Amino acid sequence: MQNILEQLEARRDSARLGGGQRRIDVQHSKGKLTARERIEVLLDEGSFEEFDMFVAHRCVDFGMEKQKYPGDGVVTGWGTINGRMVYVYSQDFTVLGGSLSETHAAKICKIMDMAIRNGAPVIGINDSGGARIQEGVAALGGYADVFQKNIMASGVVPQISLIMGPCAGGAVYSPAMTDFIFMVKDSSYMFVTGPDVVKTVTNEIVTAEELGGARTHTSKSSVADGAYENDMEALFEVRRLVDMLPLNNREKPPVRPYFDSHSRVESSLDTLIPDNTNAPYDMHELVRKLADEGDFFEIQKDFAKNILTGFIRLEGSTVGVVANQPMVLAGCLDIDASRKAARFVRFCDAFEIPILTLVDVPGFLPGTTQEYGGVIKHGAKLLFAYGEATVPKVTVITRKAYGGAYDVMASKHLRGDFNYAWPTAEIAVMGAKGATEIIHRSDLGDADKIAAHTKDYEDRFANPFVAAERGFIDEVIMPRNTRVRVARAFASLRNKQLTNPWKKHDNIPL
Ligand code: HXC
Repeated sequence: MQNILEQLEARRDSARLGGGQRRIDVQHSKGKLTARERIEVLLDEGSFEEFDMFVAHRCVDFGMEKQKYPGDGVVTGWGTINGRMVYVYSQDFTVLGGSLSETHAAKICKIMDMAIRNGAPVIGINDSGGARIQEGVAALGGYADVFQKNIMASGVVPQISLIMGPCAGGAVYSPAMTDFIFMVKDSSYMFVTGPDVVKTVTNEIVTAEELGGARTHTSKSSVADGAYENDMEALFEVRRLVDMLPLNNREKPPVRPYFDSHSRVESSLDTLIPDNTNAPYDMHELVRKLADEGDFFEIQKDFAKNILTGFIRLEGSTVGVVANQPMVLAGCLDIDASRKAARFVRFCDAFEIPILTLVDVPGFLPGTTQEYGGVIKHGAKLLFAYGEATVPKVTVITRKAYGGAYDVMASKHLRGDFNYAWPTAEIAVMGAKGATEIIHRSDLGDADKIAAHTKDYEDRFANPFVAAERGFIDEVIMPRNTRVRVARAFASLRNKQLTNPWKKHDNIPL
């Protein structure tokens, strides 16, 4: 009996060694943690329960029958993050480069099925040389099986991908279909075809980091949502994010103890808006002053900086924030900002996370680049996402809300529940100068007349009261009381019920 128990321990020890000490040392020398170390950092201490530790591949080609490693290059199982359940898989680069075999894929699919059934998020840690070359189409099939699971899990449980090494070729499409992708700077990359193929086909010379590193994907392509300095930082940040998310689409977001006063008055907000209505100010300041303990988990902070997206807590409850940023492009909506915010709004709606929208938008960005790039269709994504969302929606217009962008940014007309405005709000079809030049075109040669018309337009429309008279704005609030008002609004909406007409699914302009 003793012997059998020892045998089990010996088998476990061998499985825990993955591809062996030499390869573990190589992994460490690249500044990377091993698959198991990553799980240890990610999950609460001692909470990890492993599945399929002894699974082995079945390939007999190219001498593979002699190269078997228990677990087959991926560590899978479940554990907890601050006491809440998550499923996790972590590819082990020390085993055949973390390459994906048929059985490796089956292990991932198994925990994804369990995550869907039991309603807990899936966190995938990617560090892999791609399809196991010796297995050929069996490995390709394995990838497709994982893709199908990603699609089925989408909107049912949150899916989070960490890219902590290579992720190339078709392998990129599994993370691409998850809700969030986080990368590590200088040690991870994602691309459909690598630098060598790029050089052959297009003559471009580019490094792997330039082509598909963390900076590229967080600032240029928007494929990834966050870039971190090292494995540890990325894993800690994922823990912070998971804390804010519901476990599945049937649950409300978690409510945590909070240490901030619910009645905190922020007098400094009364002077946040500069006297010159075209001068910028940092919308981050408003977000932080509203949030419990000033904590803002920003999503895609390095992309489309003219709009901010991310999560805060208000009185302990998670709220998704979308906010125009006057510091960049004057806060205009453009293709990138519309896409970024639309995807964020849809995530929030899928997982019952209420949405706070902070508006200071002079309109859509003009220009051929925007029109040729399809700003009509991309802008429509954000409009559509807000309009279909049934979660509680609270909107605060701080300054400009002009033209179509006024409608888009969670206006009353798109079923906004609470639409507040600051006294500094200007809600109009366009700015006074532009409006005057159109309606008083015949006076364009007379500067005095134009100035008088502009002043007249400003007096009549550069305020929140015309909209308030129509009930499009529910109330004009003091900036300093915004946290209290918004928190009370969300509290009153906790039992909101709103459903859209039955349909198989909608046809959002993709
Ligand atoms: C089998 C692989 C492998 C793979 C790496 N290895 N990739 N084994 N299948 N796909 C093995 C190596 O043979 C080596 O084994 C070990 O993993 C570590 O690899 P190294 O090359 O020594 O590591 P490194 O120098 O860090 O380079 C990593 C790498 C490189 C850039 C990922 O290994 C590489 O280019 N691999 C091939 C990538 C590839 O073309 N994959 C198929 C893509 S197609 P030993 O025994 O020496 O330690 C694809 C399609 C998916 O994925 C489609 C889905 C629809």
